[in-house]
Amino acid sequence: MTEPLETELYLSSEKDELFEKGPWPKPFAFNAEVVKVFDNMVSRSVPLYREVIAGAVHWTRAYYQSKTRIIDVGCSTGTFLELLGRFLKQPAILVGIDNSPDMLDKAREKLAQVESIHQIELICESAENCSFENSSVVVMNYTLQFLSLPQRQKLLLAIYQGLVPGGLLFMSEKIRSGCPQFQETITRHYEAFKTKNGYAQNEIERKKEALENVLIPLSEAEQLQMLKQSGFEYIESLIKLHNFVSFVALKSD
Ligand SMILES: C[S@@+](CC[C@H](N)C(=O)[O-])C[C@H]1O[C@@H](n2cnc3c(N)ncnc32)[C@H](O)[C@@H]1O
Repeated sequence: MTEPLETELYLSSEKDELFEKGPWPKPFAFNAEVVKVFDNMVSRSVPLYREVIAGAVHWTRAYYQSKTRIIDVGCSTGTFLELLGRFLKQPAILVGIDNSPDMLDKAREKLAQVESIHQIELICESAENCSFENSSVVVMNYTLQFLSLPQRQKLLLAIYQGLVPGGLLFMSEKIRSGCPQFQETITRHYEAFKTKNGYAQNEIERKKEALENVLIPLSEAEQLQMLKQSGFEYIESLIKLHNFVSFVALKSD
């Protein structure tokens, strides 16, 4: 099979209208209401979402070592694991970790098709309490940003320790600029992207409010520093648009 770049993701189509009208209970949480529209929300809110998921599949296929595990931290509805399941040639152990049971219910449905090829393990647990032993690839897209700062460093360290030599972390995060003036301009550009994807200004503002103190973005430099401090020897910023970036980080042999 060739690269997954042109392939459609398996996304449920229920439209995200959560912030359109009515009061939204703050703070933002990954509850049943969000889960119902999550695929639509994430693909309309994260720049280059499809490219990032396809990129994660490409890098996973390149760094997977047989008889090891592939772990998706904050797997949500299982979109990455499902695409990987279709494109990974050899049968593998695909592990999804998420602390939202509603997300994992959706993921279980989505992954049913690839279960005949791969061993699927869905773990309903906070990532901070999980083991990453015997993994050759860990993917963690837009999840670390929801943890407290000390937990973030601890989790990255646990991932580094659990990866086998030659193992890879593929990680994406929302970031903020170290320069307030740039941050302002980037935010306006990002909001234009959301407007183009059909969100009204009041929806954009309400969601921003709900995410305050729930999603705390760091700068790209701070992210790189945390990855370095966790032990990763080679780190690259791979994909970047607006205030979102994907990194690859290698635990060398
Ligand atoms: C923005 S979503 C991730 C999107 C997903 N990786 C994707 O690419 O579609 C964040 C996910 O992380 C989960 N999450 C948040 N904090 C977590 C934690 N401490 N441990 C495990 N999962 C967590 C949420 O339930 C949610 O499903």
